[in-house]
Amino acid sequence: MLVNTPPMGWNSWNTFGAKISDKLIREIADQFIKLGLDKAGYRYIVIDDCWSELERDPETGKMLASKEKFPDGMRALADYIHAKGLKFGMYSCAGVKTCANYPGSFDHEFLDAETFAEFGCDFLKYDFCHKPAHASGPLLYRRMGNALRASGRDILYSICNWGSDDIWSWARSAGAHMYRSTGDICDNFKSFTDIAQSQFEKFCFSAPQCFNDMDMLTVGMFGQGNVAAGGNDLTQYKNHFALWCIMGTPLMLGSDIRNITPEILTLITNQELIAINQDPEARPAFFAAYPPHLKGKCVVLAKMLSNGDYAIGYFNLTSEVHATTLYFDDMGFPFASGYDLAFRDVISGEDLGLKRESLIQRLEPHDCRVFRVTPVKRH
Ligand code: GAL
Repeated sequence: MLVNTPPMGWNSWNTFGAKISDKLIREIADQFIKLGLDKAGYRYIVIDDCWSELERDPETGKMLASKEKFPDGMRALADYIHAKGLKFGMYSCAGVKTCANYPGSFDHEFLDAETFAEFGCDFLKYDFCHKPAHASGPLLYRRMGNALRASGRDILYSICNWGSDDIWSWARSAGAHMYRSTGDICDNFKSFTDIAQSQFEKFCFSAPQCFNDMDMLTVGMFGQGNVAAGGNDLTQYKNHFALWCIMGTPLMLGSDIRNITPEILTLITNQELIAINQDPEARPAFFAAYPPHLKGKCVVLAKMLSNGDYAIGYFNLTSEVHATTLYFDDMGFPFASGYDLAFRDVISGEDLGLKRESLIQRLEPHDCRVFRVTPVKRH
């Protein structure tokens, strides 16, 4: 399976936790099409933890979908999702139980991978709770990587071990297409900024076929749902989404998209932001400005794009107004290069025109600005 750009979709956990059902997932699929999320690039609809019965089938040993939550079974649901041109994702765990105490795949990896293939599953998120102490985490993830490949179906493999065991150093070799590098996100400013800050310099291992996953987005949750913890406002969600885009991490929505506000829909379908995330070269962002006294709380991130442009994001992660200067020399464009830079704000659409040598941006608390920047030779 080829996964050339960060996967995009929706996952049930952030908002719904255990409160999932066939009806809900079908409504989400309907909403994908109604809102045009599919056209914006979102493809995977992933059911997280709590989808199964508490016991395996006593005869076959197979996992069983909860009769109460999914009375028609998983295959029917997968067919419904596929008929809309979307992809269907599921969840299991490398331990004996999932984090919410449903059966895990430990020692059942090959049988479970076959079951997921029978369900018509296209994506497996694979968690890390209840792992027997004697078992090696990397080996268990390799087992499931092998099992998925042997299943005969293209299944995107999403490792979720919260960044333990130096995940970046072996996830790719275990067959993963994305690997969670941090603990769980919750819906507030501190949570997503802590996560982003912890990964600013860890993206050198993230590349086509295997992407660093900073967790599902909380954008648009506004303090409601399973990982609600105070919520964010629109400015903060803009910052969250922009960080995920420029850092090139998977874009898995986590809000109840059945009740989305127009502003959030505009944000998560911003084609220019998404194009930065989905750039075919998938180069990592680097620090173009990093005022040391602000310890990574006010940064300018820049990312080379495949057509010769750059994405440049100014991020204010502090609670004060800050002005940050980007000196073009710090991203390899000294005055002597003979190039000026043309800036276009991809969120407001404002064209700032040509800038020479530096650009200062004054940002309100928690605000950001993201530009698409084109180098232009001076006459
Ligand atoms: C956590 C995981 C979450 C969610 C949850 C389900 O370990 O990081 O994203 O999947 O388990 O119980």
